[in-house]
Formats: sequence, C-alpha cells, structure tokens
Amino acid sequence: MLVADRLIKDFGPHRAVNGVSFILERGEVLGFLGPNGAGKTTTMRMLAGGLEPDGGKAMIGGHDCVADRLEAQARLGYLPEGAPAYPSMTPRSFVEFGLRARSFSGAALKRACELALERARLEDYADQPIGTLSKGYKRRAALAAAIAHDPPVLILDEPTDGLDPNQKDGVRALIREMAPDKAIIISTHILEEVPAVCSRAIIIARGGLLFDGTPNELARTAPDHGIEGAFRALTRNDARMEAVS
Ligand SMILES: Nc1ncnc2c1ncn2[C@@H]1O[C@H](COP(=O)(O)OP(=O)(O)OP(=O)(O)O)[C@@H](O)[C@H]1O
Ligand SMILES: [Mg+2]
Repeated sequence: MLVADRLIKDFGPHRAVNGVSFILERGEVLGFLGPNGAGKTTTMRMLAGGLEPDGGKAMIGGHDCVADRLEAQARLGYLPEGAPAYPSMTPRSFVEFGLRARSFSGAALKRACELALERARLEDYADQPIGTLSKGYKRRAALAAAIAHDPPVLILDEPTDGLDPNQKDGVRALIREMAPDKAIIISTHILEEVPAVCSRAIIIARGGLLFDGTPNELARTAPDHGIEGAFRALTRNDARMEAVS
C-alpha cells in the first residue's frame, strides 16, 4: 500500500531525512516516533507528495508520489502538521471543498461529508467559520477533510495534538475503527498511543531509522519493558547532542 524507499531530503547543508525505508501493508497502523526535528514531518510530506525527495522514492498504491502524484494522492488522506484550513470556510464547506476536488458530487458528496463530520465529532460546529473555532476543533476539521473520501492510505501528522483527553480517546477509537482496511501512519509524541492504536512502531532520529518492530518488541528493548524507557534509551544520544549544541 505504501513504500518509502531510501528517502533522502536535504535543506541546504542539513540532511533532514537520511535514507528512511519501510513498507506498509493494509491493516497496519504505524506509529512514527522520534525526537523533535527527527525528520518525521519531512518524511510524511515526501510520502504525501508535497515535498520532492532528493534521493529515493515514495509510492502509494503502486504509484510514484512524484512522477504519478495525482494517482498516488487519490489513494491518500493526509493530515498535515498544525491545522491548515481556510479560516473563512466552515468545517462542512471545507470538507465539501476537498470532496469536490476529488470529483465527488450530489448525494455521494453529502453522504461522505456527513460521515466525516460525524467521525471527527464535528456536528455541533459544522457551520461555524473555522477561524473562530478552538484549536482542537480546527484540528478536527482538518482530520475530517483528510478522511472524507475514505482513502486506503492515511498519513496523520500528530492527529491527537491539541485535543482534550476525551477527544484524544475519540480519535484513537476512530483510527482503530478505520484500521482493518487501511494502511495508516500516525506520528506522535504521546507514547501511550503506540500500544493503544499501533500494530507497529518506527523510531527515527536525525533523519535515520533506529527501530522498526511491534510495540511489544520496542518495549522489550528496555530493562523495565516500557515504551517510554525504550524510546529514551534509543534516542538518548540524540537528546544529549541536542542539549550541547
Ligand atoms: N522547510 C524547511 N527548511 C529548512 N529546514 C527544514 C524545513 N523543514 C524541516 N526542516 C528541518 O528538518 C529537520 C526535520 O524537521 P521535521 O519537521 O521533519 O521534524 P519532526 O520529526 O517532524 O519534528 P517534530 O517532532 O518537532 O514535529 C529539522 O531540523 C527542521 O528544522
Ligand atoms: Mg513534525
């Protein structure tokens, strides 16, 4: 469903992503972990076709994310970092706008829009301008737009960022509900999310892959068999160097 093949991205002299490779199949939920600045968002942007790699390639559903971008993006729902949306649009008009761009119309468009608003728990705020919504509801409007066309691949960059505890649970439940027939990547700094929703975890630091395995395998790398301890141990050197520089 999704292939990252030795992806590289340079920003001037700085190599942000340094040869990241993995393959994701239907039914997998990948927790994409790493310290701040590790290269998670940059990798996700390359997979989403919004940033051209300097080396390697990304594919979705067998389509190259650069050479065959429209075909790749047709199979993808992408929730970018932050909550980019048009402030004067309402969640409903924003979701409809995205669906129309994907050639939805008539009853199918209405149905897909209602389902997305319901799944993102936005019904009460569906008709209020996005610019006037709280941070969590802005985030949910972007999430609704990402899932509305029911794509087989989802790339969600910190989907629970800015949500209150109940809403975090709601989004995790939604991801679990959608998981069986999709391939999903979520980046997160909330490590408890990994065993709760992910079937697999990847840790990157300084643009390179440090770990790829199940949440259980990750936990077992730490003496106390905890995900948090494992994450700290694997990324300790990166944190220390960050503190010195
Ligand atoms: N447009 C850009 N121009 C220059 N440098 C960039 C750009 N985008 C990202 N970087 C750099 O690339 C590196 C990786 O950034 P990225 O946003 O991918 O990290 P991240 O793992 O998503 O971090 P966070 O957990 O803070 O979201 C960082 O050093 C960042 O400063
Ligand atoms: Mg990021």
